[in-house]
Amino acid sequence: MAEAFRIRGGARLRGGIEVRGAKNSVLKTMAASILFDQPIEIENLPLIEDVSRMSELLTGLGVDAQKSGERRLRLNAAGLKTSSLDSEIAKRFRASIVVAGPVLARTGRTQFPHPGGCLIGKRPIDVFLDGWRAMGAKVTEARKERGGTFEVSAKSLTGADLTLRVPSVTGTETLMMTAVLARGRTVIRNAAMEPEISALAEFLDASGARIHGAGTPTITIDGTAGQPLRPTGSFRVIPDRIEAGSFLVMGAAIGEKLKIQQCNPDHLRVPIALLEDMGARIQLGDDWIEVSHARALSGVEIKTREYPGFPTDLQAPFTVLLTQAAGQSVVFETIFENRLGHVDDLKRMGADIFVADPQRILINGPTALRGREIESPDLRAGLAFMFAGMLASGETVVRNAYQIDRGYEKIEERLRSAGAEIERI
Ligand code: EPU
Repeated sequence: MAEAFRIRGGARLRGGIEVRGAKNSVLKTMAASILFDQPIEIENLPLIEDVSRMSELLTGLGVDAQKSGERRLRLNAAGLKTSSLDSEIAKRFRASIVVAGPVLARTGRTQFPHPGGCLIGKRPIDVFLDGWRAMGAKVTEARKERGGTFEVSAKSLTGADLTLRVPSVTGTETLMMTAVLARGRTVIRNAAMEPEISALAEFLDASGARIHGAGTPTITIDGTAGQPLRPTGSFRVIPDRIEAGSFLVMGAAIGEKLKIQQCNPDHLRVPIALLEDMGARIQLGDDWIEVSHARALSGVEIKTREYPGFPTDLQAPFTVLLTQAAGQSVVFETIFENRLGHVDDLKRMGADIFVADPQRILINGPTALRGREIESPDLRAGLAFMFAGMLASGETVVRNAYQIDRGYEKIEERLRSAGAEIERI
């Protein structure tokens, strides 16, 4: 039987809650192990399902993956034996495509299926394919009936001047890693600027790569012409800003001095500013945020943006919070075409939401929510539903716990220790 979470609404959150390492940082660093011919060590590992899937994918390529401590992972790609990604595993999560870049750079070829991940939009991969072509690779796509596999090969990869059509996060990471072992200079323009990209670049730089400008729209990489990287120290996964932001949103509604620990408030400046506009009471430290609910929250307008703007991954929990705010709020999802799938279920729970178009909603609040049985469509909406259950009267069951476990470690235990009434069933 698939697992689910049962939530009883009405509890308050208090005390401390620690943020784990970021899913979207650790997965890319695990992929980067292929750029090395010596073991790399990753610390502050989040114990989540996507990390297990990435370990399986890398193991299938011949990478040796060993836990070297409760939150430490050692990856050794010295014995890389194939350049084909296992399609069954790769289709289960989007970050799988990031592995293709280092594999291509190290072996001159790679084969992978169209990557899976959350069904939140079309999620094309033209940015990756165009970048590889410009660097001298040949790309072929086998027909759908033969599984829709992509084959990319290059006798030698040469640096190129790339302008990304959209600042894709995984596209930037993948092309940056491909360029690290290429011959000559690559420039990536209109690059994504997410903190997970800068963290990855810093680690690669400390290991012999020559990357400048990560965290800005223009990244320059001088390739090593095939020379693998050498680690000089371990990589510490940065705190998950989306997990921290989700706890913050919960605290703004039902927190009584909820202290979110081991996070980086600098990565959440825009969500924090919006919560303050709504009336939430927030205090910041170097690596913590304390939040208490306001007597009354007021509505705001939210538009999702690339970093440092408001993150699309926090749109679902904010939508839930806005059902509790007075007046009319607007949510405009600009990154993905299909990321308002949670709205229908929230309406069934009692929310007053008008869908203006597939990317825009108007929320009137505050409204009382009623517990229901709902299915988690993706990990971010799944956690938002758990939050809706915490606000609702009665009992809520969120099915498809796997989706939530993909990105949040033992979430029910951690929220329970902060006061929530949640159990895994
Ligand atoms: N896009 C293209 N062509 C491409 C690549 C992207 O048109 O070749 C479009 C997408 O369709 C989308 C936009 O560009 O409309 C932005 O997509 P991006 O490529 O930046 O997203 P991603 O790299 O697939 C990562 C995170 C997502 C997060 C987005 C946006 C990982 C593994 N995933 O996805 O995280 O929402 O950036 O910040 O890093 C999640 O963790 O739940 C999640 C979905």
